[in-house]
Amino acid sequence: ARLVVLVSGSGTNLQALLDAQSALGPRWYGAQVVAVGADRDGIEGLRRAERAGVPTFVRRVGDFATRADWDRALAGEVAAYEPDLVVSAGFMKIVGPAFLARFGGRFINTHPALLPSFPGAHGVRDALAHGVKVTGCTVHFVDAGVDTGPIIAQGAVDIREEDDEASLHERIKEVERSLLVDAVGRLAREGYRIEGRKVSIP
Ligand code: GRF
Repeated sequence: ARLVVLVSGSGTNLQALLDAQSALGPRWYGAQVVAVGADRDGIEGLRRAERAGVPTFVRRVGDFATRADWDRALAGEVAAYEPDLVVSAGFMKIVGPAFLARFGGRFINTHPALLPSFPGAHGVRDALAHGVKVTGCTVHFVDAGVDTGPIIAQGAVDIREEDDEASLHERIKEVERSLLVDAVGRLAREGYRIEGRKVSIP
């Protein structure tokens, strides 16, 4: 399966995918990162791709007249790599209708909370502020809402008395990286069906 990964930051989830690919090779069911895209320059996520010899591209919202133009440009660039799956791994932009029309049903995201609790850009902070005792991470298909699409996999993380946003996010990300690698491997190996909200991987 050909993967295009979208990033906006440090790219440790991307790194986990790249590491799985080199460590597991064919045992990772032929999943292969063929390109990495970003919405900004100068981020560690792009450097990780470059170090792994994976082609990169950047499409910045500010370089386009409208958000819809950006969305179409991003979709066009991703499409050029003919991906089977597109993975949003810490990509901090909401894509629009053009992107979803092309990649809906094969576009997945990883989110640092147990959805449907705490969607949005501050899932870790919001869980802490709410005082929940368990949070975690969710890998899900992307639909037109914010972190609302069908759920593929989840991992739980206990919140500790002494946690702040940074310490909690670090522990979530440890679980998140293996959850993502595992989910991508299973989708690539088995194929999958999305029926309503339910994702079945045979
Ligand atoms: C992840 O926790 C992701 O869920 C969130 O931002 C973090 C990205 O981390 N949206 P990285 O860039 O993969 O290190």
